[in-house]
Amino acid sequence: MKSSLPNIDRRSFLRNASVFAVALPAFQLGTLGLFGCNQARSLSRSESKEQPANVTWKTTIVSAGEPGDPLIVSGTIYAPDGRTPLEGISLFVYQTDATGRYSTTGGDNRNTRIHGLMRTNAEGRYEFRTIKPASYPSSRIPAHIHAFVSGPGYPEYWIDEYHFSDDPFVTGDMRDKAGKGNLSSILTLTRGADGILRGVRDIKIERCSKNCTGR
Ligand SMILES: [Fe+2]
Repeated sequence: MKSSLPNIDRRSFLRNASVFAVALPAFQLGTLGLFGCNQARSLSRSESKEQPANVTWKTTIVSAGEPGDPLIVSGTIYAPDGRTPLEGISLFVYQTDATGRYSTTGGDNRNTRIHGLMRTNAEGRYEFRTIKPASYPSSRIPAHIHAFVSGPGYPEYWIDEYHFSDDPFVTGDMRDKAGKGNLSSILTLTRGADGILRGVRDIKIERCSKNCTGR
């Protein structure tokens, strides 16, 4: 949520999204998309531009010249048992740029400028190369990367945003709720000899019971 908007939490938004969708003239939907976060999802369910074919487990979601600190995020997606790696699980991510802006031109937050789709390989692996996002301008909202997961038998849902352990806006409460080890949604980044930041997050997929997108 951009600083100019009230800080609407995800559940509140889901409750209100259909109201927004009805109340807003169509020309305003693109403007809503500028605020990134999760707001616009319900406004544009039918407009995903991603094509499921030819999706790979590893991708780069920024161009070579994208300003910011290069970052590679990787991990394994497991079945609900927490042990069995799952092949063919889709992971969609989107984020701000290094100034905290989404810079989308469409009405769908899936089309924010920096976004990408992966599908896990036979080892359940995913990886995306990006730049470290920033907090929204003039806000204390931690920098984050939004993400959805889905797969055969697993309707799409939001997982907790990726956050970063060195972010001063990540609260103790958030750390308590983020999980432990590689399943934590708060990444501990390390910088390699190549200068690139890396973080790992494994995901234990669920059969969607909350934060479902309806896809
Ligand atoms: Fe956001």
